Amino acid sequence: MNIDNIRITFSKSLAGLLSLPLLVMLAGCHTDMWVQKKVDHPFARSTFFPDQSSARMPVPHTVAMGQVPYNDPYDTGMIANSPGGSIAETGVSRGRFVNAFPFKVTKQDMLRGQSQFNIYCSPCHGVLGDGNGMVAIRGFVHQKPANFHTERLINAPVGHFFDVITNGYGIMYSYASSIPNPRDRWDIAAYIRVLQFSQNAPLSVVPKSRMKELMSSGSDTSKPVVSGEPSTASEGAQ
Ligand code: HEC
Repeated sequence: MNIDNIRITFSKSLAGLLSLPLLVMLAGCHTDMWVQKKVDHPFARSTFFPDQSSARMPVPHTVAMGQVPYNDPYDTGMIANSPGGSIAETGVSRGRFVNAFPFKVTKQDMLRGQSQFNIYCSPCHGVLGDGNGMVAIRGFVHQKPANFHTERLINAPVGHFFDVITNGYGIMYSYASSIPNPRDRWDIAAYIRVLQFSQNAPLSVVPKSRMKELMSSGSDTSKPVVSGEPSTASEGAQ
């Protein structure tokens, strides 16, 4: 017997020796899940819970993914099932758009709306909401992003803007997942109203303190200039 044979015999018996406890351990892993305690049939009585019901109720106020409370205008921008509504692709009956904000809009809301608008909407609709954002300038040749200063959109109810952000419109996709908080969507709608007002406001609404600034800006003075922040003049926009 040469040394190599000895090595093989030795390693074979070592492997056998080691595999024995492994086998015993593996056998122990066989936990019969089919014999453990469980509810055999749906809705069977259970002694585990105090109310003896095996089916559990969802935690209070649970909202399933994709399921929103469709009856609150705050979540939809419309009065549910009211006449004049259409049926959305989801099959949910849509109502008439509300034409009032579901809360008192503050300056804070408008500032929040401004920042959200500039992040999510201005690339296409432009910082003035005239549809001349950078993306629109460089692409979108067939369908331009909307200009919010048309008569139709100036007269559109605020609920419509909330709905466009939530569900998309035409080729514009939904921003519901990017802007999950309904309050932010309302704030953007409020800021759209600010923009609409700013682009169509008469000179008489410009506060005297800012008139000089406006006149010296060297631009077309037939229309007030929109500064980076909503001015005091635009606060009356709601
Ligand atoms: C990627 C480009 C893009 C972005 C970003 C975008 N939009 Fe649009 N939007 C469009 C286009 C394109 C249309 C025209 C869609 C059509 O008519 O098919 C449109 C249309 C609209 C309309 C007009 C609906 C009508 O009644 O005609 C509104 C209002 C609107 N967008 C609001 C918003 C708001 C608010 C945001 C930000 C949350 C936003 N959009 C972000 C491209 C964009």
